[in-house]
Amino acid sequence: MVAQTLAFSIFCFFLISALSGQQQGVEGLGKGEVKFFVFGDSYADTGNNRIALASSWKFPYGITFPGKPAGRFSDGRVSTDFIAGYLRMKTPIPYRWRKQLAGRVKYGLNFAYGGTGVFDTQAPYPNMTTQIDFLQQLIKDSVYTKSDLETSLAFVSASGNDYANYIAMNGSTAGFPTFISNVVSQLTVNLRRIHSLGVRKIAVGSLPPLGCLPANTATSSFQQCEQTQNALVNLHNQLLLQAVTNLNNQTHSTSFFILDIHDAFWTVFNQTQAAGGPKFENPLQPCCVGVSAAFSCGSVDENGVKKYTLCSNPKSMFFWDSLHPTQEGWRALYSTPAFQNSLKQLWQN
Ligand SMILES: *[C@@H]1O[C@H](CO)[C@@H](O)[C@H](O)[C@H]1NC(C)=O
Ligand SMILES: *[C@@H]1O[C@H](CO)[C@@H](O)[C@H](O)[C@H]1NC(C)=O
Ligand SMILES: *[C@@H]1O[C@H](CO)[C@@H](O)[C@H](O)[C@H]1NC(C)=O
Ligand SMILES: *[C@@H]1O[C@H](CO)[C@@H](O)[C@H](O)[C@H]1NC(C)=O
Repeated sequence: MVAQTLAFSIFCFFLISALSGQQQGVEGLGKGEVKFFVFGDSYADTGNNRIALASSWKFPYGITFPGKPAGRFSDGRVSTDFIAGYLRMKTPIPYRWRKQLAGRVKYGLNFAYGGTGVFDTQAPYPNMTTQIDFLQQLIKDSVYTKSDLETSLAFVSASGNDYANYIAMNGSTAGFPTFISNVVSQLTVNLRRIHSLGVRKIAVGSLPPLGCLPANTATSSFQQCEQTQNALVNLHNQLLLQAVTNLNNQTHSTSFFILDIHDAFWTVFNQTQAAGGPKFENPLQPCCVGVSAAFSCGSVDENGVKKYTLCSNPKSMFFWDSLHPTQEGWRALYSTPAFQNSLKQLWQN
């Protein structure tokens, strides 16, 4: 009984954490007519990862919002929350809470899992194909109807885990161009499938400049982007643009568009050189830095000693950890013309 009560209080704690993940917004669209579905990886995940496994559930993740670790790979809000805010909707709850928070399912769901790609990666989580299977199953189960889907929007985040996994497995970027075209082909299959389920508008994120992530700039003390990877990113984004153009053509629609995260990143990076004064002193410098390994933000050793250092003010930093922007970083990206102009397409027919 005690164990049960304890389990229940722990459950409630996480439930409240998940709930408090909502964006404060006008409930204009939030009546449940428009649903927002999200697929992809940690740039979009708001808590699908398993609590015991993911760094996103460890301190200092979530310290800015909601004030404690709650499954986001940041100190606070991430892309999904900002896009939902733009739509004046509550942020879609993670798929894993669909039964416990059934009342929120009408706003849509977030199927994104940190660490995943369009292909399988080392992360023990559903790839994008399986994430779309989850939505398809919910339609079969009549959780969503066909007309629900026809007024719904989707955001697809494929931010580079396929490529990180390729480098980790194969040891180099040799053979990358072929792999890039395989990734974009599979992504295209996924986008077409989301459309065939009935989703009216589908925003797919362009690939951020991976060569500028702290994981890749640590060797230059966060001073210089790695050019080889950035060139490969440009190839991915060119192929993605072609794919999106073809999809619109083939479906005689304007359903598909690119959310230009790549351009947004560069706008923020370039701002620092502008005369108006830098928003982030060095946008390449992360707030949470692993002491001996890049990915140890949130880790402690057997004596509880932190394996990372934390900046004093996450609001002054663009990057949070070795891969992810801070909430303030996402806010800066969201505020760029590239991001805002992309989002306008959500309302165009
Ligand atoms: C996605 O995961 C499923 C289930 O593990 C697997 O059968 C499928 O081949 C994977 N799809 C891709 C494109 O890697
Ligand atoms: C390793 O490289 C081969 C050939 O380029 C490619 O087919 C394979 O998918 C790569 N492995 C991973 C895990 O990406
Ligand atoms: C669209 O598809 C048609 C054939 O279905 C083709 O003739 C046309 O060139 C395509 N347009 C673009 C912009 O790709
Ligand atoms: C950022 O600066 C680079 C180099 O000056 C330039 O090539 C690029 O177009 C700029 N990008 C944006 C989005 O401002």
